[in-house]
Amino acid sequence: MLILTDPSEMQRSAMGLRRNGLKLALVPTMGCLHEGHLSLVREAARRADRVIVSLFVNPAQFGPGEDFARYPRPFEHDAALCRGAGVHILFAPAPEDMYAPDASVFVDEGRISRGLCGSSRPGHFKGVLTVVTKLFNLCRPDLAVFGRKDAQQARLIRQMARDLNFPVEIVVAPTVREGDGLAMSSRNRYLSGPDRKKATCLHSALQAARAAFEAGERGGAALKAIIGRRIAETPGAAVEYVEIVDAESFEPAAVVRRPALAALAVRLGATRLIDNIELTPEPQAEGAPPPPEDRAGTL
Ligand code: PAF
Repeated sequence: MLILTDPSEMQRSAMGLRRNGLKLALVPTMGCLHEGHLSLVREAARRADRVIVSLFVNPAQFGPGEDFARYPRPFEHDAALCRGAGVHILFAPAPEDMYAPDASVFVDEGRISRGLCGSSRPGHFKGVLTVVTKLFNLCRPDLAVFGRKDAQQARLIRQMARDLNFPVEIVVAPTVREGDGLAMSSRNRYLSGPDRKKATCLHSALQAARAAFEAGERGGAALKAIIGRRIAETPGAAVEYVEIVDAESFEPAAVVRRPALAALAVRLGATRLIDNIELTPEPQAEGAPPPPEDRAGTL
């Protein structure tokens, strides 16, 4: 595995691989890798000849007072996991090599990014879309793989690739969960023992909404209330948002008639966790493919 830190060298290597006719897949990460990331790497390896993992804690997507400084950076551990997973290039640039002090061009979006994490973390998606654009230009991938846990991010990146004509296929892979349902996240390691136990409330609240949905509930407000009540039963869990949104527009869904997402952000102490599930109105016929959240594809 090659470890590259210089953006120009990364770009030269990617262009060399492409000239040799190799199909490249990129898995963008902020490091502190876990099984969720490794599942993205495996998906990338299934679809391409070479896998590039970028490891960059992107300052531009953190707001003031957020966890940029304390975000875990276990580089050797991450590199060992990538090596073990058959990654070809690990690209780990320094912030000063990614952003010139006088950088003045950014990528932003004004519709899908308005709600959910976009409203609770102003500027976050501008930072994400800008760095992903830069990573696409540096790593020149044919495809890039993102996790469904960050559903709004994945939807925005797909929109960006379409609107700005990036020749990059956006693949969205299923959320990987711990045995008790907690979605894997690098931020789970912030949780104290008791908070780790409480963190299962995100998944159980979403499951309660799914059960109601499967029993015929289609009202956005009613589904939100079910989730909110479950979280409220967990002492110390503070809801940042609970929303039922259209899976395509990310507009709130008053009534779920088309594929939708139940999404939430919850704080446990200083730790902010997000999760979501898809709510798909059509009944699944016997022998039909599994619901989209259980397989990789577009969001
Ligand atoms: O999902 C993440 O880890 C980050 O938002 C990403 C896509 C690597 C951009 O910094």
